[in-house]
Amino acid sequence: MFATGFFSIFDSVSGGRCWPGDLLEYDVVDSTNTRALGLVDSGLGDDFAVSARMQTAGRGRLGRAWFSPKDMGIYCSVALRPRAAMERWPQLTLVMAVAAVAAVKEVAAVDLEIKWPNDLYWHGRKAGGILAEIKPGAEGKGDAVVVGIGLNLGQRARDFPGELSDSACSLALADGEHAAHHELVRALLDSFHAWRREWEEKGFAGVRNNWLANDCSIGKWVTLPGSDRKRVRVEGMDEAGDLLVRAESGEATRLIADDIVLGRPAT
Ligand code: BTN
Repeated sequence: MFATGFFSIFDSVSGGRCWPGDLLEYDVVDSTNTRALGLVDSGLGDDFAVSARMQTAGRGRLGRAWFSPKDMGIYCSVALRPRAAMERWPQLTLVMAVAAVAAVKEVAAVDLEIKWPNDLYWHGRKAGGILAEIKPGAEGKGDAVVVGIGLNLGQRARDFPGELSDSACSLALADGEHAAHHELVRALLDSFHAWRREWEEKGFAGVRNNWLANDCSIGKWVTLPGSDRKRVRVEGMDEAGDLLVRAESGEATRLIADDIVLGRPAT
């Protein structure tokens, strides 16, 4: 489906290159992130990917679980040893986000939006999420980083558990064109490779510009998690990837690894 048109949109950042590493495909794993972290020193090379049809213990950010039923989604993790300084590695969450938006648009014709720092949305509902984890090395340095993405593909509203039924979405619910699982995984990996090269060779600016073009929160009032449920307006993203917000009082804040909730808090 994507063979003819797909690579053209990545040519400007990648020279049309494809994912260069191994892709290990499983039927069932606990978590593709956990599996990738465990394989980092197994001789697979600096870049490899793990994909599964189902996860029994899929993990999200902030200790949450990731709903991972069989053949209903993409559950995929890439393991890397970036040359960039470790302080920049958290930006790989945003690299994966822009890569996923491009791949899904090209392969499934769905325009996803990004909600900082790691969510993929369609019309106010979450269709995917990203979890980046660093494997520590010697002397406080990072050995490798694993960036995992979960993307809901085939679910209808009734397929989501009750607590997600109002907030979750899938590419099928977004009227996406049907795309085979392996096509989407390949497209995602190729797109990630292209954006990762751009990020490593030219810095964060290109990723940031693309992120800003696909963000769904800028200019909106959002709620910060926490007992005081502070409301802030999103103003932008700085050169490092931190979110710039301003409270009703006028106080400006920089969010580093937080979470935001679109709209007003539930009362
Ligand atoms: C989030 O939105 O909180 C992040 C969700 C990340 C889920 C993906 S699915 C593939 C990879 N393996 C995991 O256990 N988690 C990530």
